[in-house]
Amino acid sequence: MQRAALLAVAMFLFSSCSPQRTVGTVGSDSRIEHSVDSLLRLMTLEEKIGQMNQISVGGDVESYAEHIRAGRIGSILNETDPVKVNRYQKMAVEESRLHIPILVGRDVIHGFHTIFPIPLGLASTFDTELAEKTARAAAEEASATGVKWTFSPMCDLARDSRWGRIAESSGEDPLLDAQMAVALVRGYQTDDPSAPDAIAACVKHFFGYGAAEGGRDYNSTYIPERQMRNFFLPPFKAGIDAGVLTVMTSFNDNDGVPSTGNSHLLKDILRKEWGFDGMVVSDWNSTLEMVNHGFAANGEDAARLAANAGCEMDMMSFTYISSLKRLVNDGKVKESDIDAAVRDILRVKYRLGLFKRPYVDTTRTKGAFYKKETLALAEKAAEESAVLLKNDGALPLDASKISRILVTGPMADSPYDQLGTWAFDGEKGHTVTPLAALKERYGDRLQITYFPALKNSRDDNKAGIAQATALARQCDAVLAFLGEEAILSGEAHCLADISLKGGQSSLLEALKKSGKPVVASIMAGRALCIGKDLENCDAMLYSFHPGTMGGPAIAKLIFGEAVPSGKLPVTFTNASGEVWYYNRTNSGRPATGNEILLKDIPENAGQTSLGNTSFYIDSSTKPLFPFGFGLSYAKFSYDGIKLASDVVTQKDSIKVIAYVRNESGPDAEEVVQVYIRDVVGSITRPLKELKAFKRVLIPAGQTAEVCFAIPVSDLAFCGLDMKKKVEPGDFELWVAGDSDSGKPVTFKVSE
Ligand code: GLC
Repeated sequence: MQRAALLAVAMFLFSSCSPQRTVGTVGSDSRIEHSVDSLLRLMTLEEKIGQMNQISVGGDVESYAEHIRAGRIGSILNETDPVKVNRYQKMAVEESRLHIPILVGRDVIHGFHTIFPIPLGLASTFDTELAEKTARAAAEEASATGVKWTFSPMCDLARDSRWGRIAESSGEDPLLDAQMAVALVRGYQTDDPSAPDAIAACVKHFFGYGAAEGGRDYNSTYIPERQMRNFFLPPFKAGIDAGVLTVMTSFNDNDGVPSTGNSHLLKDILRKEWGFDGMVVSDWNSTLEMVNHGFAANGEDAARLAANAGCEMDMMSFTYISSLKRLVNDGKVKESDIDAAVRDILRVKYRLGLFKRPYVDTTRTKGAFYKKETLALAEKAAEESAVLLKNDGALPLDASKISRILVTGPMADSPYDQLGTWAFDGEKGHTVTPLAALKERYGDRLQITYFPALKNSRDDNKAGIAQATALARQCDAVLAFLGEEAILSGEAHCLADISLKGGQSSLLEALKKSGKPVVASIMAGRALCIGKDLENCDAMLYSFHPGTMGGPAIAKLIFGEAVPSGKLPVTFTNASGEVWYYNRTNSGRPATGNEILLKDIPENAGQTSLGNTSFYIDSSTKPLFPFGFGLSYAKFSYDGIKLASDVVTQKDSIKVIAYVRNESGPDAEEVVQVYIRDVVGSITRPLKELKAFKRVLIPAGQTAEVCFAIPVSDLAFCGLDMKKKVEPGDFELWVAGDSDSGKPVTFKVSE
């Protein structure tokens, strides 16, 4: 049966939420299965357990020789010297009893040496083709060093910008997360993961990690089964259906069960319902951390729980290598489960071609990094990922009409910080900062005065602000580069206050008083609360840490050589204490906009109503910016929606034509988005859900006819009976440039 047919069968079988047996799996190959079985039969229990042991290496390669030769290490991470990688492989392939190659992993999260925008930025492009290309380029660079496995894409739905790892997510929407995950899996693995420049991908962190209570990393989550299936699982399922070879468990416990010990997740759903036949690796030490969770009594108990739950490779807790043999001998872990785990690990190694080609060609690194086309791709990605949040007409700057600009702020020339988090192999010496790009591109026409005013994004020494303001008065325009250093973003870097740190807001406030046009360019790893900063600038361009080529991209956008087209993958809140996301349910008392906010509460107010609805009296009745929002230099008008039919059956597709006009020019790209609301359901349903999107280039003055065909089956969800299906009834549909615009049309799904 062809792979596509297999996939179709697999997809059909798993349309239900309830567990079903699968019939075969994506990518299974009888020759590989035969090789795996033959090898497994030769292995001792110790050698099997050795395959389940992954360690992070460093320092003296020879210090690992004894363990590798004895078959006690199945995978290593964090070695990127191809000579050392080959030395490790030689120990495994030529100096051990069964010659099983080692799988070399690395966090290649948004590029290897050439760094692309952080995943949250990549998601802002809504450009899956571009995303796939960035993963392809990253795999080409990384595989040249012997890396054959990346721990990417992160598929964690993330709504809370207090959580440092929102930077690594694709944001708050299941569809965008899913499509980005598929793009990255395809880019890393291609259709032939055994190719020398392909690497295994890894959907992580399975599951719910992004919903850590309070936005505090590693914290517990409380996601009920229905929410899990309707919001948090779809991106992982999409990655599995795209053929991802590995899955990583998450640190968090959900509803009391740590993912690394959650058999409902790792066996019922991942294996039985979804038919996954790749390999499951724990997160770093997450096996042993089940003791901290209070879920395991000790390391041995943790190993028992993880192995029995279906976690197959243990990253850096050493509990498997130290306890599994005893657990098997004591009958607490079945050797058949060890065999199943080792079978999956060996299958991945065969699919990656490691038995055929265990060594990396060390000459590949020559010329492999920072290729011209890779840097151009990085610049394109940074350009498309930038989101224009405000423009009172200050942008684009016209270099022919001004002669002097002030470049200020701590992010103007901060090459390391611009790369963002998880840029292990990024090299700041290759980063082109905004200052460098501005000098290079416009230095011949403009006098560029550079005065950062603050040492870094946390610097609250405001002594330099007066001088910055004085310099601003002598210039025609001010470019203020603000945001957050890379160290403030990423794993375990959570913030209780997500406004700009240090004296940044004060700097912007002072610059505004200079009376000159002020353009704020933000580089950050999350959706910062920049509401008050918006008042102190004439335009704001927002980049989620844009990577190596962020400078040229931002410079070109500011001077109109490129047109902003990014859209927000996450809702922006007015204050750190707010929680908003676009695909929320309505509640019984949604805000009306007529509520009384703090500043309007009358003197001596009694126990009066300020509006008994869902809002924050000291902040707002709605988010600052909605999901999907992003301005352009062009003004787009949505001139109507045509539905092929306003009644559809479950087997149909919803055919939509939208007319989008570029009223003002210049030629520009718009991300046209389709949202659908299921008006009444057996459970409360989101106000709307993104069901399709397209980036469309619309020449100035022209109208694009944008067509969508959305299968009605895409409206399926797990309802009150937990069965995934489409519930007939009334629906609303929007086509707009963001999740809070436009007027809906209606249609019915018939019984
Ligand atoms: C980290 C992260 C995970 C990463 C792994 C290996 O703790 O949680 O995303 O892939 O360890 O570095």
